[in-house]
Amino acid sequence: MTTTTTTAPVLTATGVTMRFGGLTAVRSVDLAVHPGEIVGLIGPNGAGKTTFFNCLTGLYVPTEGTVSYKGTVLPPKPHMVTQAGVARTFQNIRLFANMTVLENVLVGRHTRTKEGLWSALLRGPGFKRAEAASRERAMELLEFTGLADKADHLSRNLPYGEQRKLEIARALASDPGLLLLDEPTAGMNPQETRVTEELVFAIRDRGTAVLVIEHDMRFIFNLCDRVAVLVQGQKLVEGTSDVVQSDERVVAAYLGTPFEGDPGEEEAAEVEAAEAGAGGAGPKKSAVTGDAESTTARTEDEQ
Ligand SMILES: Nc1ncnc2c1ncn2[C@@H]1O[C@H](COP(=O)(O)OP(=O)(O)OP(=O)(O)O)[C@@H](O)[C@H]1O
Ligand SMILES: [Mg+2]
Repeated sequence: MTTTTTTAPVLTATGVTMRFGGLTAVRSVDLAVHPGEIVGLIGPNGAGKTTFFNCLTGLYVPTEGTVSYKGTVLPPKPHMVTQAGVARTFQNIRLFANMTVLENVLVGRHTRTKEGLWSALLRGPGFKRAEAASRERAMELLEFTGLADKADHLSRNLPYGEQRKLEIARALASDPGLLLLDEPTAGMNPQETRVTEELVFAIRDRGTAVLVIEHDMRFIFNLCDRVAVLVQGQKLVEGTSDVVQSDERVVAAYLGTPFEGDPGEEEAAEVEAAEAGAGGAGPKKSAVTGDAESTTARTEDEQ
């Protein structure tokens, strides 16, 4: 654990709010990530986690609030955010399906080469010079992520878990200081999840701070120095894994049951009383105490 809260943060989100018409998907969220940290972002389906990531990475311009990287406000353009040093993966994998594994990583490298994307794709004159160095770096990242032996495979032919790892390799190709992972283990088996856990530790050890969204609570609580819980767009709790796991509001939020001070507490109590009178169902198992089955209950929303 290397919680270095005394150093200046790499990421500072202040009062980030995102509204879509009448819906407030993210409401005044503050979050900081420090160098050397792995921070988790959890919350039920539809809590606003991906929307928050989209605000951090310039995909959405927040309705209110600011996002800074190493003390400088980030421009609301995804390629400029990547250029600044923040890379991400997507909840729904976004690879170039008909490119090889190596080519996908080379595309991720274009923000760090003078030649740029089109030169890389069209193999223009400047590309040849930079190609050897880029390929070497890309191969090193494929070694690092365990995909080197698949370098020449088309990415669409990779099993799902390896496509997720390739997304990580591609994101790392831009040499980020902060990596945002949106459900990196979705669809992975337990063995693949453990390998991914080790990979995230290794990424942090190489000097990239990590902010990770996941529904797999075992993964999150093993991995993260700090965890923030979003519920209905608001940050409900933030703290160490122990603090978050033992907070009854978090358990309540996952089960959809009311907690003390919950705005809907009275109405929920009435419904519960009515259901009890009608012989309602028994309590559900906690999703925040390590029940791996919580990962299967989610829907495949866009991003
Ligand atoms: N582009 C959009 N336009 C309108 N509403 C949106 C848009 N993107 C997200 N939303 C809504 O914002 C809310 C938060 O969605 P978001 O995808 O951020 O949740 P999430 O926490 O990532 O959920 P999950 O765990 O299922 O991925 C949802 O109600 C969603 O329908
Ligand atoms: Mg999401």
